[in-house]
Amino acid sequence: MEALECIKTRRSVRKFTDAPVTREEMQQVVEAAAYAPSWKNTQTVRYLVVTDPDKKQRLADGCMLDFAFNQKTTAGAPALVVLTTITGRSGYERDGSFSTSQGTHWQSFDAGVAAQTFCLAAHACGLGTVIMGIFDEAKVAQVVDIPEGQQVSALIAIGHPAEEPVCPKRKDTETLLSFA
Ligand SMILES: Cc1cc2nc3c(=O)[nH]c(=O)nc-3n(C[C@H](O)[C@H](O)[C@H](O)COP(=O)(O)O)c2cc1C
Repeated sequence: MEALECIKTRRSVRKFTDAPVTREEMQQVVEAAAYAPSWKNTQTVRYLVVTDPDKKQRLADGCMLDFAFNQKTTAGAPALVVLTTITGRSGYERDGSFSTSQGTHWQSFDAGVAAQTFCLAAHACGLGTVIMGIFDEAKVAQVVDIPEGQQVSALIAIGHPAEEPVCPKRKDTETLLSFA
């Protein structure tokens, strides 16, 4: 798929078929997502895949801050990716001090860059995704073992699309773009 077409046709997908996402498909997507840029090439983002129906149901029932859309999406997706970041590296000097006045900002920035790269790669492979930010991080960590030194940045539901969502309206270029 051509890059601009991939960017423009990717939609947030919240309904999936029952077809599982295979390990090979996940590997193909993450292999591509690894090419995302990151702070000093620190590559601190990790992808923890949950497919166990019981765990997914527990995440849906107890970790989505009672946000019904995310509960339904999580329970219905064949796989849920817990996107984590290794803390204390992105935006930091080797001595542990912040590199810039933006403090911890770059860790989340890297996570966002990686998440979109992951979603575009998934789309190019025929998979649908939706990034979810409405969840309780501490409760997710009670259901899924988050490795020491990492924190949950976002959840991404992934599967074979069972819907073709219309594109939510975009702002025009004149609004978004200015020249200094
Ligand atoms: C940081 C972030 C958090 C989001 N959180 C949620 C969420 O919790 N639940 C959800 O259904 N969609 C969520 N979305 C998806 C947005 O609603 C979606 O990207 C937006 O409406 C534009 O639609 P599109 O992705 O199809 O272009 C999130 C997207 C981003 C980037």
